[in-house]
Amino acid sequence: MAALSVNVVRKRFPALGAAPEKLVLENVRFAASEGETVAVLGPSGCGKTTLLNLVAGLDPEFEGRIERPPGRLAFVFQEPRLLPWRTVEDNLRFVLAGEADAKARIDAALAEVELPDAGPVYASRLSLGMARRVALARALVVRPSLLLLDEPFVSLDQPTAWRLRLLLLDLLARHAVTTLLVTHEPREAVMLADRILLLTAAPGRPRAELRVPLSPEERRDLARIEAVARRLLPDRPEPLAVEAA
Ligand SMILES: Nc1ncnc2c1ncn2[C@@H]1O[C@H](COP(=O)(O)OP(=O)(O)OP(=O)(O)O)[C@@H](O)[C@H]1O
Ligand SMILES: [Mg+2]
Repeated sequence: MAALSVNVVRKRFPALGAAPEKLVLENVRFAASEGETVAVLGPSGCGKTTLLNLVAGLDPEFEGRIERPPGRLAFVFQEPRLLPWRTVEDNLRFVLAGEADAKARIDAALAEVELPDAGPVYASRLSLGMARRVALARALVVRPSLLLLDEPFVSLDQPTAWRLRLLLLDLLARHAVTTLLVTHEPREAVMLADRILLLTAAPGRPRAELRVPLSPEERRDLARIEAVARRLLPDRPEPLAVEAA
């Protein structure tokens, strides 16, 4: 049985003032089995964040049905959304809400994102790359059964984004958490996902569903990733200007 089952028949935002009603998603249907990573890939504005909000249950207004796995859900937003006036440790403690082994879990989560000494640092002092790592640690520290990632590496320089994708690859393998990743970056989807659901431009409708034929080792090889992205995906990305070190 699927851990996550999504059937969004229609998602519209109602008319507001002079703005007419807007159809944002139609017939978006997919499932993810336990531990699987599914990427939803589509251009800016096609409804990716809207879809994640539906899957998270943050927006109940849609036609269709979504079934989530039991357990906790973690959402890494398009912007890291840390509390800037709190330390990194407090940002993680906040989502653990008094659990007994909180400190050990926070330390382990920060070590996993390769920021073992960041606990006492105020979130406002972090670079964007560090803030994105902390956002990942905050998501995983709750041991979620479903992980939602909204363009987790957007606005980073290419070498930083590549390093963080490698880190996420390791984290997803270790945690085996059912994951839904939305992105507009074809290579990110190919590198990280078992399957890719391709959406059209707005309103987002399914265009194709693809299985990514890469082994765990091949997912660390930028040339392989680009070859698969060029073969599978119609938008033929240019090569990335980054060393696959
Ligand atoms: N609360 C809202 N009310 C009305 N329209 C909205 C609302 N939220 C989003 N939209 C519209 O829905 C469409 C899809 O937005 P959404 O943020 O889901 O796209 P996206 O694929 O995540 O884009 P991006 O890649 O830029 O993050 C956009 O046209 C947006 O303007
Ligand atoms: Mg978005």
